[in-house]
Formats: sequence, C-alpha cells, structure tokens
Amino acid sequence: MTITVNGKAYHIEADPQMPLLWAIRDFIKLKGTKYGCGLGQCGACTVHMNGQAVRSCTIPLSAVGQKEITTIEGLSADGTHPLQQSWQACNVPQCGFCQAGQIMAAAALLKSNPSPSEEEVRQAMNGNLCRCGTYLRICKAVLQAAQ
Ligand code: FES
Repeated sequence: MTITVNGKAYHIEADPQMPLLWAIRDFIKLKGTKYGCGLGQCGACTVHMNGQAVRSCTIPLSAVGQKEITTIEGLSADGTHPLQQSWQACNVPQCGFCQAGQIMAAAALLKSNPSPSEEEVRQAMNGNLCRCGTYLRICKAVLQAAQ
C-alpha cells in the first residue's frame, strides 16, 4: 500500500496490520519517531495524522489510507519550528528519547489552541511520559512557543 509521510508518497509492502510506527522507522527509515511501550501508553511514537496527534504504534497501516502523516522530520523543513526553537532555548531534553513525541503532541495542541494556559498545556501533554522528568521544561517551552 501507499502512504504519504511528510508530503512524500511511499509504497510499503507489508502486513496491513503492521503498526504505522514500523513503516516509518523500518521501511521509510525516519528514526525520529520512537518506540517506547508499543501499547499506546507513553507517547514516544506520536506523529500527526491529518494534523491530529496519534500514537503510531497503535495505528495499523490499513487505517492510514490517504491521510497525511507528519513526523518530527517533517514538522519544519529546517528545524526552525517555534517549538523546536523553544525546546532548544529551554534546554528541554535530558536523555531525549521521548522528545520527538513530546514536540509532536505540543504542535498538535498549538494548532488547535494557539494560546493555551499552563493548565491546558499540562492537560494536553499529560499522556506523554518522560522518564527523566522534564515536564516543567516541556511546559515552559510550549508556553514560550505559544507567545
Ligand atoms: Fe506508542 Fe508508547 S510507543 S505510545
């Protein structure tokens, strides 16, 4: 089947039930999207499907169809998305593993709510886990990017 990732069409020969995450990482070779739990519980694999944040480990390839998939590599052409800039300015990452998923979740939030309150940021980011506990910096960076 053919899926569109970051504006480019890819033909994938695989089981239609295979999670989108594996198509992105193993077939298309975009490694920014991470495998954390594989159960839809951590958010490390978050990408956008038609602009909505989804957990790619829970989306079978057959459910993608014509929908546009955006990964962290496609968020901006040159890494200058406001969230990427604020992430750097706030020194958000520690080990970094969850951060692509965090940024993709935050980008979906800012698309639907360009000026969120701190509480709205906390609620929206609540399901994206960070083993290093960078939550305070994540919240600060999202609010900074929203300004
Ligand atoms: Fe998909 Fe954890 S790897 S939610």
